[in-house]
Amino acid sequence: MEARIQSVKSSAVEECSKIESLAQLQQLWVKYLGKKGEVTQLLRSMGSIPADQRPVVGQMVNQLKVELEQLYEQKEAELEKQIQQKRLQEEALDITLPGRKPKIGSLHPLTLVLNEIKQIFISMGYQAVEGPEIELDYYNFEALNIPKDHPARDMQDTFYITEDFLLRSHTSPVQIHVMERQDPPVRIIVPGKVYRADSDLTHSPMFHQVEGLLVDAGITFADLKGTLEAFAKAMFGPETRIRFRPSYFPFTEPSAEVDVSCIICRGTGCKVCSNTGWLEILGSGMVDPRVLEKVGYDTEKVSGLAFGMGIERVAMLKYGINDIRLFFTNDQRFLHQFK
Ligand code: DAH
Repeated sequence: MEARIQSVKSSAVEECSKIESLAQLQQLWVKYLGKKGEVTQLLRSMGSIPADQRPVVGQMVNQLKVELEQLYEQKEAELEKQIQQKRLQEEALDITLPGRKPKIGSLHPLTLVLNEIKQIFISMGYQAVEGPEIELDYYNFEALNIPKDHPARDMQDTFYITEDFLLRSHTSPVQIHVMERQDPPVRIIVPGKVYRADSDLTHSPMFHQVEGLLVDAGITFADLKGTLEAFAKAMFGPETRIRFRPSYFPFTEPSAEVDVSCIICRGTGCKVCSNTGWLEILGSGMVDPRVLEKVGYDTEKVSGLAFGMGIERVAMLKYGINDIRLFFTNDQRFLHQFK
């Protein structure tokens, strides 16, 4: 009996030393300490042992049971520690590795420039309004004093949809929409998309304009000059000068094109201004009385000034961009430079 106890003990110890997982350990428990396990069987066979030896042998078996239970617990703790260590190793974070920064979007350069233009005119009391991009011939041309078949239509390569509908070729038609629904005084700017069949380094079939219109009693050319000079100084810096060149637009009389002193060379002459010292920035004029009459305004009482500029052109000058297509091809390397 003693020998049997010894052999159960030594085989349990040996098997235990080879165990690598909790599942295997569980099997070992079943084999030795379970209901039909070796130790249990030893205890059951006590009956066949002579009574005088029973206390001694019984004690030995109990001793064995306690030892194997301890062995089990030790091994269990050991295995759990191993498992935890392995997991810690696998999940280890290298905190010395630089983090990956999420790419944060930025405002489009055209949005930045438009916001600036808006802010300047809003501070002068103008209101920003919008109008339709699909427009009636009447608003885009006729109401602006450009009759059908008039040569002035050649100034803009228009996308016609039908005889009467077209993609607006400028933001000027919104002048008419606003004046039709509102009595003077009117003081608005109109940012928005416009369309022309034209495409090269400095022209895009879709581009953006900001229109300006001020109608009130006693508005003169001096107001036009003052307004645009204040705008140019706010937009391009206080040392900026402007000049007016006589021009022609069917909806203004007189009409003028406005230049700003070159923002690159400050007027001394460089590549950007073709050595003239000036950059053309917008079209403007005093609203032709025929336009005001068409919307029912009394031209004896009110007069108006108007202007229109291309946002891309302003942005190209401001940021030194030489290809208009960069604004619309969404190249991240380009867009991320404007923050
Ligand atoms: N609509 C003109 C264009 O697209 C720009 C313009 C010129 C607008 C003179 C005006 C203006 O309001 O007075 O070429």
